[in-house]
Amino acid sequence: MSKHVCPWWLGYSLLCPVRRWIEDPEKMLAPYVKECMTVLEPGPGMGFLTLPLARLVGSAGRVVAVDIQAKMLESLGRRAAKAGLLPRIETRLVQPDSMGLGDLKGAVDFVLAFWMAHEMPSAEVFFLEAAEALKPGGMLLLAEPKGHVKPEKFEQELAAARAASLEIGERPVTRRSMAAVLRKT
Ligand SMILES: C[S@@+](CC[C@H](N)C(=O)[O-])C[C@H]1O[C@@H](n2cnc3c(N)ncnc32)[C@H](O)[C@@H]1O
Repeated sequence: MSKHVCPWWLGYSLLCPVRRWIEDPEKMLAPYVKECMTVLEPGPGMGFLTLPLARLVGSAGRVVAVDIQAKMLESLGRRAAKAGLLPRIETRLVQPDSMGLGDLKGAVDFVLAFWMAHEMPSAEVFFLEAAEALKPGGMLLLAEPKGHVKPEKFEQELAAARAASLEIGERPVTRRSMAAVLRKT
C-alpha cells in the first residue's frame, strides 16, 4: 500500500460526527444529486458520504463505491445495511492503478471525488477513467483537504481534469476543502 493512502483504521475518524456539524453532507450534495441518478464515489472510505448519496438518489438510483481497501468497504457495507440503504449501494474492491469502470462507460450522472484524488497513483488516469464513466454533461465534484493538499497540487489535479475533457466550473468555498465542480463536455 502506498504511503499516500489513508490507512483503514483512520477511516473511523472520518466518520466523526463533528464533520457533519461543520458541513451537512446532504445539504452539500443536494445541488448535484437527484433521485434515480447513478453516482460513482471513488475512495468512499467507510462511507461518511456514501449514505447521504444513497438517500439522495432514492430507491431507483444507485451509488457505486470503489475503493482499494476491503476493510473500508466492509465497514461501509455494515453501515449501509444498518441504515437500510444497502440495495442502492454497490461496493467494488479495485486495484490502485485502475477503477475498473469498463461497464459504466457513459452511464454515470455524478462523480464525488472527496478527499481522495491526491491518493491516486496518477491524477491523469483517474480523471480519464472518471470522464469516461460520466454521461455527457455529467458533473464531478472534486474536493481536497486544505492543509493536507497544497494549492499547487490541487491546480495540477485541475489541469489533469481539463486534459481529460472535464470543464472547470464553479469553485465552491468551504471551510475545510478546496473544491471545484467539473463538467464533462
Ligand atoms: C482520506 S479517505 C477519504 C474517504 C471519504 N471520501 C471521505 O471523505 O470520508 C481516501 C480513500 O481513498 C481510497 N483510495 C486510495 N487510493 C485509491 C485508489 N487508487 N482507488 C480507489 N480508492 C482509493 C482509500 O482507501 C480511502 O478509503
